[in-house]
Amino acid sequence: MDNKKLAFFIDLKPAVEDFSTAVAHGLSQSPKELPCRFFYDEAGSALFEKICETEEYYVTRAEKALLTRIAPEIAAIAGPGCSVVELGTGSNAKIRILLNALAAPSAYIPIDISGVHLLAAATEIAVEFPDVAVGAICGDFVGMTALPEGVNTGSGPKLGFFPGSTIGNFEPDVAREFLSRTRGVLGPGDGFVIGVDLKKDVTRLTAAYNDAAGYTAAFNKNVLVRMRNELGVAIDLDQFEHMAFFNEAKSRVEMHLRSLRTQDIALGSQTFHLAKNEMIHTENSCKYTVEDFKVLSEQAGFDPIEVWTDERHDFSIHYLRTPG
Ligand SMILES: C[S@@+](CC[C@H](N)C(=O)[O-])C[C@H]1O[C@@H](n2cnc3c(N)ncnc32)[C@H](O)[C@@H]1O
Repeated sequence: MDNKKLAFFIDLKPAVEDFSTAVAHGLSQSPKELPCRFFYDEAGSALFEKICETEEYYVTRAEKALLTRIAPEIAAIAGPGCSVVELGTGSNAKIRILLNALAAPSAYIPIDISGVHLLAAATEIAVEFPDVAVGAICGDFVGMTALPEGVNTGSGPKLGFFPGSTIGNFEPDVAREFLSRTRGVLGPGDGFVIGVDLKKDVTRLTAAYNDAAGYTAAFNKNVLVRMRNELGVAIDLDQFEHMAFFNEAKSRVEMHLRSLRTQDIALGSQTFHLAKNEMIHTENSCKYTVEDFKVLSEQAGFDPIEVWTDERHDFSIHYLRTPG
């Protein structure tokens, strides 16, 4: 990877063994499951960007418009000289809006599991914002309790940035623990800007995860593609169907891969049997009310400072702060 434009590039090497272990573990469960972080390699990240551009996926449009409107308010609360730590980078559109609004941001440190995409995205920002020290960390943010040793975030305050409603991928109990741990990545008195998708009409929710162009289906199946390419698993993609629906009781959109026939998946010395129509649960996207998320963030030890929603009440952005 060419990281010459970056202040640093730390590769924590999210390992192939982790993938293999996670797949074996997930396929041993009943119902079967696969963690959604494995959607994201170079191809998966590119597919996610395509999803963000679809008519059906209102999430990105709503969050970008809201962020553009409130960025000056975020900047006023955050103050000058912030080092922005972004969890899960994706496209650069949102960080550009934030960096343009902040007063003299000193550093930008994106953390993402999808290394090639991360390097390209971080390098673009380094070129566009020469006064901001950009350093990237390729790794899994789930277990992170602090930034890796040696990462210098400068003397200003840190500002966490977690857009895209990625927090919705965790079930609420897990989200609470994750947020609590993330306080360690930030410091006392630091801000955390987090985008959270809101509960809404089921038809729109369902459509958002079933785009007509089929990008979400391809994204869902990318975990199978990775199993084939990286773990040597013999898989016929056509024997799986993308399924996404709203689970009202759990207030979440669930993605699954449905097996279209009886089949076995052989991984190393293990074989996992799939019945016809058996589902592998691949992703949750939990949808919150503004109040529910505020309560959850307080339970995770954050002080809620401000919250904004768009006019249609599609999306919310919360400004939280770690206790000083
Ligand atoms: C739902 S996308 C959101 C992307 C972007 N932040 C946005 O707002 O559109 C989730 C992002 O987080 C990254 N990601 C997912 N799970 C991760 C994990 N466990 N550790 C690090 N990065 C992860 C993905 O590679 C992807 O870039």
